[in-house]
Amino acid sequence: MNAGMVTAAYIVAAILFILSLAGLSKQESARRGNLCGIAGMTIAIIATILSRDVTNYGVLMIMMLIGGGIGAYLASRVEMTQMPELVAILHSFVGLAAVLVGFASYLDPDLALQGAEHTIHNVEVYLGILIGALTFTGSVIAWGKLNGKIGSAPLMLPNRHLLNLGIGVACLILLFVFLGAGKGFGTFLLVIMTLLAFAFGVHMVMAIGGADMPVVISMLNSYSGWAAAATGFMLSNDLLIITGALVGSSGAILSYIMCRAMNRKFLSVIAGGFGTTDASAAAAGDVEQGEVVPTTADELALQLQDAQSVVIVPGYGMAVAHAQHPVSELTKQLRANGVDVRFAIHPVAGRMPGHMNVLLAEANVPYDIVLEMDEINDDLADTDIVIVIGANDTVNPSALDDPNSPIAGMPVLEVWKAGQVIVSKRGMSTGYAGVDNPLFFHENTRMLFGDAKDSVNDILKAL
Ligand code: TAP
Repeated sequence: MNAGMVTAAYIVAAILFILSLAGLSKQESARRGNLCGIAGMTIAIIATILSRDVTNYGVLMIMMLIGGGIGAYLASRVEMTQMPELVAILHSFVGLAAVLVGFASYLDPDLALQGAEHTIHNVEVYLGILIGALTFTGSVIAWGKLNGKIGSAPLMLPNRHLLNLGIGVACLILLFVFLGAGKGFGTFLLVIMTLLAFAFGVHMVMAIGGADMPVVISMLNSYSGWAAAATGFMLSNDLLIITGALVGSSGAILSYIMCRAMNRKFLSVIAGGFGTTDASAAAAGDVEQGEVVPTTADELALQLQDAQSVVIVPGYGMAVAHAQHPVSELTKQLRANGVDVRFAIHPVAGRMPGHMNVLLAEANVPYDIVLEMDEINDDLADTDIVIVIGANDTVNPSALDDPNSPIAGMPVLEVWKAGQVIVSKRGMSTGYAGVDNPLFFHENTRMLFGDAKDSVNDILKAL
């Protein structure tokens, strides 16, 4: 394939990637968005394979088979609840790839650039490796925190901000020394900088507490995009630059949207420290909060027969219990009985952006009754029954009432304003942020204890 055809294919792929992002922004068009992304990536891969830069097809095919095989195996086995972990570890591969390509590009004996071009290339190599290295270790730590291999409490080293600043300044000084160095010493400096960036990535994510992980994941998503864009500059590959910029900027926008949803400042998330008031949260656990009133599926079924309006608030527990199909069935039955049923989705419910929407779509819940927090919060006061299914932090009133709570200021679904609140969960465990929830002790709250899937099936039977 000549260079002109490759460029044309890359332009088509770039347009498909933009259409993909546009499609993914709405549930109705998400499937189409995914198809555009798949088509764009297929065109990009084929055009790259057929380009004149590729000569060693044997090695390429073996590596593609290994990589594709591992990818297909992992993707087919991953549970919906493990999706954020998979995304985190995939980001780490992008980071590692940027590091390896950076070193390969720096050591490439065929590359004979002079003057300004040489300096620009070296800056690209340096930045690509720097961003790639911190994305790599940061993502590995995020993966470990999400799957529980590493504790979710933030690591608070003394003078941690000073430490980060020190690494940043050291990397900047090394850049200037690197630009004036020969190949041998330059490689040594690159290795030192890579080790510093590895350490920075570990420290940055270790310092961030559990409840801020969603923002960290999308921030690492953004970094992996910038790392890919830097790789694109190193390799003079326009499509990689465009794709990297799309991923980088969409990840940054998503981080911003999530910070707004949690009422957190982006910089304070990155600086870590959320959850540092764990001690006060734990102390709150010792305070007598009142009485918990349990209920049964039969009792709830009776109440549901009299209700005019019901709002269902799903959370992480619904995903764990795989309760989305019975929940969808319950919705169908109630609607058939003339009850107005709607879903209230908190922006960070579950463990990844859009987690609940994906599950409900999978169970064929109609899109038009699935509402975002801002769209439905004001209606909750006029709702007869709110059924909270495996949600906890996202319906915690202490976010609004208790300025000392670790989640203070985070907007939440104000379910306690409804006529009756039913909370389906297995016991009295806390949610992801590890804070107690006074909702469970409210006088209009009833606890439906048990696995969410079993509980909803019991309600269905009773109905
Ligand atoms: P959480 O606050 O995590 O609470 C989930 C609740 O589900 C738990 O209290 C648990 O209580 C219950 N549960 C677990 N398994 C269950 C089962 N089989 N049946 C019934 N209940 C079950 O959930 P949420 O309200 O969705 O809040 C999400 C939290 O995760 C927020 O703090 C958010 O910041 C964080 N987070 C979000 C994301 C994104 S982007 N969505 C990513 C990472 C973290 P029991 O053990 O007592 O049953």
